[in-house]
Amino acid sequence: MARLRCAVLISGRGSNLEALIHACAEKDFPAEIKLVISNRADAGGLAHAAKAGIASAVVAHRDYASRDTFETALTKVLEAVGIELICLAGFMRLLTAGFVDHWRDRLINIHPSLLPAFPGLDTHARALAEGVRFAGCTVHFVRTEMDHGPIIVQAAVPVLPGDDEHALAARVLSAEHRAYPLALKLIGAGRVKVVGERTEISGMSGGASILLNPADDQRA
Ligand code: GRF
Repeated sequence: MARLRCAVLISGRGSNLEALIHACAEKDFPAEIKLVISNRADAGGLAHAAKAGIASAVVAHRDYASRDTFETALTKVLEAVGIELICLAGFMRLLTAGFVDHWRDRLINIHPSLLPAFPGLDTHARALAEGVRFAGCTVHFVRTEMDHGPIIVQAAVPVLPGDDEHALAARVLSAEHRAYPLALKLIGAGRVKVVGERTEISGMSGGASILLNPADDQRA
């Protein structure tokens, strides 16, 4: 079976890229990474692509006079290698409606919160400030509204006593490294359909258990 041809767009360290590369190396994984693009030449994540022998390109936003011309250049590079799905993984540029609409339902993102809670930056600090008992991450199709769009996969982690932003970020990040490959696997297998701005996932079995945080010790 032909594997889904993906590109991963990064700006930084690329730990999610690394998780996706790892997943794609599994036998029978239904997607492959054909290209990694960074908008910054110094992105640490480019080393993951090089190590895995994946083609990479730097398309530096600073080299373009406008967002439109930058995005046109991105699309040109992506289409030249027949990319079918773009995975944003710590790509720190806002994308305009032109790009998002062109790649509609072929453009996904990972965000470090349980959307629609905490869109935007500083998600972990804001989650701690609100005192939520669960944090997590969301993989979703991209829409023009930032950190918004049909949800594909979410992973939840508990917020624990004594957590600071860094401890919580690390716990969420390890959840990201499971959630993003799962989303890619589901899409690659053709199991994800966008219906009325929600996704339907065929053959989905949800986790049936109730998660309590704090645990109900009396009943343990
Ligand atoms: C992740 O937390 C992701 O959710 C957010 O940016 C971060 C990227 O981390 N969009 P990495 O570069 O994949 O390590």
